[in-house]
Amino acid sequence: MKPLLSSLRGQQPSIPPIWLMRQAGRYLPEYRALRQQAPDFVQFCLDPEMAAEATLQPIRRYDMDGAILFADILLIPHALGCRVRFEPGVGPVFEPITSPNALSPGSDWLDMLHPVGETVRRVKAALPARTTLIGFAGAPWTVATYLVEGGTSRDHAKTRAWAFGDPEGFDLLIRRLVETTVDYLSMQIDAGAEVVQLFDSWAGALPADGIRRWSLGPCVAIATALGARHPETPVIVFPRGAGPATAWFATSGAFAGVGIDSSIPPEWAAAVLQPNVAVQGNLDSIVLKVGGDTLTESAAAIRQAFQGGPHIFNLGHGVVPQTPPEHVAELVAYLRGEG
Ligand code: CP3
Repeated sequence: MKPLLSSLRGQQPSIPPIWLMRQAGRYLPEYRALRQQAPDFVQFCLDPEMAAEATLQPIRRYDMDGAILFADILLIPHALGCRVRFEPGVGPVFEPITSPNALSPGSDWLDMLHPVGETVRRVKAALPARTTLIGFAGAPWTVATYLVEGGTSRDHAKTRAWAFGDPEGFDLLIRRLVETTVDYLSMQIDAGAEVVQLFDSWAGALPADGIRRWSLGPCVAIATALGARHPETPVIVFPRGAGPATAWFATSGAFAGVGIDSSIPPEWAAAVLQPNVAVQGNLDSIVLKVGGDTLTESAAAIRQAFQGGPHIFNLGHGVVPQTPPEHVAELVAYLRGEG
């Protein structure tokens, strides 16, 4: 069995499988060259030839155990009528929404995302035998923050004010995102994705009861609905910043894997999460950027902490654009014992 799938089924290989969030992207010169051919980021994501190439670039360089589909978490709201544009130096920009009716899926919304399915098919056909193809979507809470704030935000104050002030209205928005996310991920699985990951990058902006209602609840709903349609496909959830509430995700029974950010002590995660799920993480992204002995020492400590159970080596968040590509090669070589 592929090493990444083995970990997710609780049968840990002796060398932990590895992939990195944002392993495709601006730190790679070949990515920057490809990206120049498509100034519009949404068009780039929806071009199967270019998106498949971007997915495969880090696999050619590093022989990762996982290939993450090249796409973006904001394609779903885009297809649901909330158009996103990516501004250089700023990031994603939306017209901020104030009502759940801003998301009104027409019957053909998924057609707009069919190029993503085509990307999955092309990548699947090109991948080495050991590599697992990972599909993904944003978790409803995180996607909602971009819609309500109109882009990236420091404190997510408008989204929290809506959630706390009008919880029923906010639930409607979240429910629409749950339903559409199930259909979108199901499409990725039908096209060949072998694992799917839900990115709840801003889970940590919520208080604990909010995490339960708007992060855990919707992620469990998505994983459960997917499990009914695709019982063989493991789901990984990444509730970034959730702290000890991460334990709820691990014990929910809905997920095969839980991603942890770098603030979570590995020993805690090994004791509390690993008996229930494969743990994915959690090297600091800047440690990878810095490299050298700091990198190998940090990687060794993480490996050591998780050696008693299923572990997928990853970062605590994404690769940063300033990362020297050689550091990724050094990390992979070190973990495989060739370093
Ligand atoms: O290699 C991979 O991980 C696969 C592709 C991928 C992208 N975005 C490509 C991308 C994945 C899995 C994502 C997820 C994503 N997108 C998240 C969750 C993970 C996280 O980082 O917290 C979020 C919050 C987004 C939304 C998003 N997309 C933002 C905020 C930005 C702008 C910030 C930035 O890094 O530029 C993007 C753009 C984006 N998505 C880029 C890439 C490679 C950079 C675009 C470029 O080439 O200019």
